[in-house]
Amino acid sequence: MSSSGLAKLKDAPYYWNDEQRLECVMVMPETQNAKTFFFKVDDEQLFNYEPGQFITIEVPTEKGILHRSYTLSTTPSRPLSIGITVKRKEDGQGGSAWLLDNLKLGDTVKAYGPSGIFSCRNLPAKKYLFISAGSGITPMISMLRWLYDYSVHTDITFIHCAARPSEILFRDEIEHMSKRDPDIKVSWIVKETDRYDVWTGFQGRFNQIMLELISPDFAEREVFCCGSEGFMQSVRDILHAEEFDMSHYHEESFGAPIHTEEDTPDHNDVIPADDVEAEIHFNSLNRDVACKQTDTLLSVAKEVGVDIPSACMFGVCGSCKIKKTSGEVHMIHNGGISDADVESGYVLACCSRAIGRVVLEI
Ligand code: FES
Repeated sequence: MSSSGLAKLKDAPYYWNDEQRLECVMVMPETQNAKTFFFKVDDEQLFNYEPGQFITIEVPTEKGILHRSYTLSTTPSRPLSIGITVKRKEDGQGGSAWLLDNLKLGDTVKAYGPSGIFSCRNLPAKKYLFISAGSGITPMISMLRWLYDYSVHTDITFIHCAARPSEILFRDEIEHMSKRDPDIKVSWIVKETDRYDVWTGFQGRFNQIMLELISPDFAEREVFCCGSEGFMQSVRDILHAEEFDMSHYHEESFGAPIHTEEDTPDHNDVIPADDVEAEIHFNSLNRDVACKQTDTLLSVAKEVGVDIPSACMFGVCGSCKIKKTSGEVHMIHNGGISDADVESGYVLACCSRAIGRVVLEI
């Protein structure tokens, strides 16, 4: 940066506005299927935004211009450039694929923003819990870099879920920050391990037991969550089950970033209530049994003499797996059932509660 640029940084910085095109000044491969693109306007111009915010880029694909929003994975504490981290989607098409395959040094793009309210800067706290999955890590790395740069000694628990270790974005940098700052504690959770590589972190899907092991004081933390809708739903379910005060929970979907408070979705999560009736039909008894929404299928079965094997009572061992032929249950398990079994209609009786009328094969 030139000396006049440094003077501007100290005295009267002038900032990028979205009338100006961004020039791609660096492309950094992150994993096999993700890259970070860094942009500048010119050497003299700075970027001002909240960590966790996003910009919307015009992507000039062969089929026409697409508008795609990407979180800035960089931090405003390093204002000379901004960066977005783009991961290839499973269908291998669309705006992200175009950027990964075509955008190169010297190219310019039109972009709008920054926008969004998902930022720790809007919600100062002594303790944070960042939970993310997949590309949902991008606002978290921005906030983590910002808190680290400002050396405010904030207590941060950082949990990230990925398909496998080699797909964890920014892993080395985050572990480096954690080694240097004891207030940053990092846990990785992967679905499967990489061949020929030793993995000592968690494996499986994020669950209640992992939350309590990794962050026993999570109830005292401001929670930021980002990932797919299904992932965020499962995090909310876990927090509801732990009776977490949800006014301290904040989320951003990497599918649809939130622009304003009014855009914040109403989740209408099903939370079983003591005063709401439910009904379970046991095929073996050929009988409907009335119960409360908060009763587990297992406890109701025991009451009427239907024997379901059980051991852990916590959704881990899988011994209470039964087939549900119709109806809806609220199930919060800890890894004791596979997604394929859930798809096929199986539930764990010890941690499932009937919502309305449920028919069980047993
Ligand atoms: S008793 Fe272990 S999963 Fe239900």
